[in-house]
Amino acid sequence: MFADLSIHFTKASMSKPRKSIHGEWSSRFTFILAATGSAIGLGNIWKFPYIAGENGGGAFVFVFLICVLVLGLPLIIAEVAIGRYGRQNPINSISNIVEENKSHPMWAVTGWLCLLSGFIIFSFYSVISGWVFSYGLQMGLGTFQNISPDDSIKIFNQFLSQPWTLLFWHSLFSLLTLLVVAKGVQTGIEKAVEILMPVLLILILTLLAYALSTGKFMEGLRFMFDFDFSKLTGESILIAMGQAFFTLSLASGAMMIYGSYLPRGISIPKACFMIAAADTAIAILAGLAIFPIVFAHGLEPASGPGLIFQTLPVAFGNMFGGQVFGALFFMLLLLAAFTSAISMIEATVAWLVENHDMTRNKASLLGGLGAWLLGLGTLLSFNLWSGKTLFGKNFFENIDYLVTNIMMPLGGILIALFASWVMSKHSILNELGIKEGPGFWVWRVSAGLIAPVLVLLVFFHSIEFF
Ligand code: TRP
Repeated sequence: MFADLSIHFTKASMSKPRKSIHGEWSSRFTFILAATGSAIGLGNIWKFPYIAGENGGGAFVFVFLICVLVLGLPLIIAEVAIGRYGRQNPINSISNIVEENKSHPMWAVTGWLCLLSGFIIFSFYSVISGWVFSYGLQMGLGTFQNISPDDSIKIFNQFLSQPWTLLFWHSLFSLLTLLVVAKGVQTGIEKAVEILMPVLLILILTLLAYALSTGKFMEGLRFMFDFDFSKLTGESILIAMGQAFFTLSLASGAMMIYGSYLPRGISIPKACFMIAAADTAIAILAGLAIFPIVFAHGLEPASGPGLIFQTLPVAFGNMFGGQVFGALFFMLLLLAAFTSAISMIEATVAWLVENHDMTRNKASLLGGLGAWLLGLGTLLSFNLWSGKTLFGKNFFENIDYLVTNIMMPLGGILIALFASWVMSKHSILNELGIKEGPGFWVWRVSAGLIAPVLVLLVFFHSIEFF
């Protein structure tokens, strides 16, 4: 299967000779499906509703939409374009372009930042997805039937205090993800998203119908679309920018590596627009499915990260059909997390295959094992190591802070500058499939100027500079 490990020249694409050794997506649709699967994750179904809730609802949603357009879209286009041009893992793709353009070798840091971010996020995403796994099962078994808010908090804390249970779910999630990745681009990732993404859509529509049946749908709708700009603060705008960045899986290698499997001739700007639109639509639908259920029980919409594991089980546990629909909800969350996790570790696996001459199976085993081991630190942060802190934070809080507040914003700024100023204009125009005109300049100013400034603001805010 990997006999042809060399980068080969194809007659059809003499102008751009490179081709990924891992194969290509079979169609534009499968690329969009896989990239949307990466983008739709815990960020859409867990984080977006609760930060929208905390930041005043509709006005926040509006600002978020603008952030996706002015920040997210130019950046995702930049990443996919770098990937398709470079045709290898983020480290090599960027290094090759650096060499070609005789730019400063320090730019290579960008590739490392992206690859490592994806790897580290995978390590803790897998632990949290493990909780989702277990909650889905417990919901289906009726553990949350008729519980009170206090019971729910107790159940959650007790769950987190059991390292062996957490280990089981974390291992199962890692294993399943790596099994798909080991199978390769077309036979693994593509097959998985072709089956899972339609199921995800059906699940979210089913939950939406259920939310409609609570009689509180209008309240949820009003909450999500109530344009009360007085509730909007400078801080919520920065949060919206950060979310636009996170939800599109930017600066963590995922979009770049998926871009490297994109056949030539497919328009990157159009495909990326569809990915961003689908991702945003799902985040909004998730909010519309969750809030009516929360309101139907007089619960707090702004209940922060506990919304999913503490608030929602109370709602589902006390409503007609909640046992079934609650289980379906966690299944939705699990699928969303699964298709994201695949894309997080793919860049690492591709790097092991390309730079360390491994077969895909061996690379998946090794990459998966490494991330799984790192995940143990996160797992223990909720129990045995909860008291062990560095800079006032436990292990999980530290690596989460490092990746989301430092590595990803820095990676994002570098990618944006790299694609717009380091890559030759000829190459980037060629990748974007456009001529030099207003469209190109809109992209170049957004990616090369506006996005780096905005991400820099988010960065300073998140390191509590202001
Ligand atoms: N987009 C994912 C979500 O919304 C989170 C994420 C960030 C991610 N970086 C990633 C997913 C890299 C896959 C790969 O939950």
